[in-house]
Amino acid sequence: MVSPFFSLASVLLDIRMLRAETIKDLVGLDIRGFHLNRLIGAGSYGAVYESSSGTEKIAIKASIKGSDILNEAAALQRLYYCQYTPQYYFHEETPTPNGILHTIGQEFLGPDLESLRRKTPWQAIKRPTLVRIAWQALSCLQAIHSYRLVHRDIKLGNFAISLPTGPNNCVTIKIFDFGLAYNYMDENGDLIDDETNPNFSCMKYCAFEVAMGMEPMPKDDVIQLSYAILYASGYDFPRKLRCPPDELLEWKRELLRVPAQILPPLAQFLTPFYAVLGELNDLVPVDHEMLKQKIQESLPAHNASANLYIEMQDGEETLV
Ligand SMILES: *[C@@H]1O[C@H](CO)[C@@H](O)[C@H](O)[C@H]1NC(C)=O
Ligand SMILES: *[C@@H]1O[C@H](CO)[C@@H](O)[C@H](O)[C@H]1NC(C)=O
Repeated sequence: MVSPFFSLASVLLDIRMLRAETIKDLVGLDIRGFHLNRLIGAGSYGAVYESSSGTEKIAIKASIKGSDILNEAAALQRLYYCQYTPQYYFHEETPTPNGILHTIGQEFLGPDLESLRRKTPWQAIKRPTLVRIAWQALSCLQAIHSYRLVHRDIKLGNFAISLPTGPNNCVTIKIFDFGLAYNYMDENGDLIDDETNPNFSCMKYCAFEVAMGMEPMPKDDVIQLSYAILYASGYDFPRKLRCPPDELLEWKRELLRVPAQILPPLAQFLTPFYAVLGELNDLVPVDHEMLKQKIQESLPAHNASANLYIEMQDGEETLV
């Protein structure tokens, strides 16, 4: 039995020696033969670096929080053969002169959907592109749920496009950041309780039932995705999130109950999709194929399962 004081002491040591500022200052370091070239993202979780070994380019996520990194590494290993998630390379605890550094090496992806949304005119993604994004994002959820994983942190910033391939710069959407992911079911189909008991109702953009105190389940990933789709359509979701909590809860409830009355004008066309979300529950497995068909029905004149491409428009990378 390891003394709890011992582990607490080592955590304190890590945090003291490797503070949040230094986690963003690791360019030049070599990890598993990969050279950290450039900081490409940073947040409360730590930092992400573009890294390379010869011609091979990967992303290395660095954190001082060993538990999140371990959780993410376990999820990515589980998803090793999944084409909708970044390829996993390694997980390592690297001793540095400043303390222990927890890192994950994973596939290098293109920009995330939140940065792509911000670059579009009026910060609104056009309908034909939006339905193809929604289709592929639902395919991402379908894939991870088939591995009995629930993501629990679905937002535009946690989907990214792959690097473009072919003469037309074809891309696919992948879901990433598995720091809060959870293996919710065993191979017999029995639910596994999360003993760490995280309180997801504190997350403002959580799904309605999660805000009501339920544990996040696969259908709640879908509900969170439905908020992200609204945001991508041009709706000011961050402003809605700043409402008083009871008003926000009421909005989430009504969006499930009477979507046609709640959907903003820009997203009205998606009523067929939003109309079935209120019927989702935790007893019946999520029918992702049916949800994708509802996306297709929302814009019949366009093919929602057609490929996405990255194009330069007015000097900006644009998803079409
Ligand atoms: C979870 O957080 C919410 C709001 O942040 C709070 O009202 C609730 O009491 C918390 N629940 C638990 C079990 O701690
Ligand atoms: C939609 O696009 C997909 C992928 O390119 C293709 O396989 C499918 O046949 C298309 N469907 C229609 C109805 O055009």
